Amino acid sequence: MKPTRRTRKPFRLAMLTGGGDCPGLNAVIRAAARSAFALGWEVWGIEHGFEGLLTKRAHKLHPKDVRGIIHLGGTILGTSNRVSPFRVERRGAAPGQAEDADRSAEVVRNFKAMGFGALIAIGGDGTLSIGLRLATKGIPIVGVPKTIDNDIEQTSVTFGFDTAVATATDAIDKLHPTAEAHGRVMVVELMGRNAGFIALNSGVAGGADVILIPEIPFDLERVCDKIREREKGHRGGYFSIVVVAEGARAKGGKLHLRSLDEGEAPRLGGVGQWVAEEIAKRTGKETRSLVLGHLQRGGPPTTFDRLLGTRFGAAAVRAVKDGDFETMVALQPPTIVRVPLKIAVGDGRTKCVPLDSDVMMSARGLGISFGD
Ligand code: F6P
Repeated sequence: MKPTRRTRKPFRLAMLTGGGDCPGLNAVIRAAARSAFALGWEVWGIEHGFEGLLTKRAHKLHPKDVRGIIHLGGTILGTSNRVSPFRVERRGAAPGQAEDADRSAEVVRNFKAMGFGALIAIGGDGTLSIGLRLATKGIPIVGVPKTIDNDIEQTSVTFGFDTAVATATDAIDKLHPTAEAHGRVMVVELMGRNAGFIALNSGVAGGADVILIPEIPFDLERVCDKIREREKGHRGGYFSIVVVAEGARAKGGKLHLRSLDEGEAPRLGGVGQWVAEEIAKRTGKETRSLVLGHLQRGGPPTTFDRLLGTRFGAAAVRAVKDGDFETMVALQPPTIVRVPLKIAVGDGRTKCVPLDSDVMMSARGLGISFGD
């Protein structure tokens, strides 16, 4: 149903944030809510992602609820990266004997019973793929691409990525003096799942010597060659900064996993520590490692992410107003466009670092090693 001003009851727009949180979510919520209020619509916030549509946990948002939140990290709606309506643990199942149930029909029923006319789903590939499946079951959906990983197709960038890169670059900047003072190798592990955008961009901006990304399986000897090369002519020992994406792996090697729980996305982590130990063993250099972890998801969004989030939120409401559903708003500079959700996230599609991109070529031109 295309919303018009003539409907007797105000049009009721629902919004949810799904998946891992990311700086800029509140900027999207604020922009969408304010644009919708200006059209005379009601705006409802669904709590904790799709879980709120299963449990009917949602509340009406008022202008005061979205005041003063543009600069806040997190999400005022809460989120969850564990609940898919298509795969919910069956009620009453004994622990360890949980079967998965498809409760999507219940979600569609609840959505209609709550009187919602459309849903703005703000999330990454997981949330948007669920959105796509729910759209085909009758929920009018517009998606907004969120993730610090920047791994969504059809948008040149997702909001949250710029903030994560800024945080990672700041960390690398802080590692430099201590690495140099001790002549050590510092290895920092960054997020990004199967995409190396955070590691690549912050590594280049932070002046890293080695950057290891999932898109380029690495050879530890090549990494050590780079470190030895930097030693030459430095009798007191010389420092190196190695940036490792959590999804990077050695040639012929496996992903480093923290956990692999059934039915859930694997939790990556540990490759930085392993790389550091191998470097120390092979070069004899004193080496330290750290994992930046969820710091990359926290804090206030950068100006870029606030603006992009605001543009996405407002554009999503325009798409709802036009009845242009099963779409995702996307940045294709200089404009925000709408692309079919199916093209953006259908068939499990995600985006990786293009190896012929100018950032990659510039990094190689500068002598940064990718361990290949
Ligand atoms: O997708 C965002 C992200 O931060 C990834 O970079 C990371 O692998 C994952 O989420 C961590 O998820 P969780 O918060 O569940 O540990």
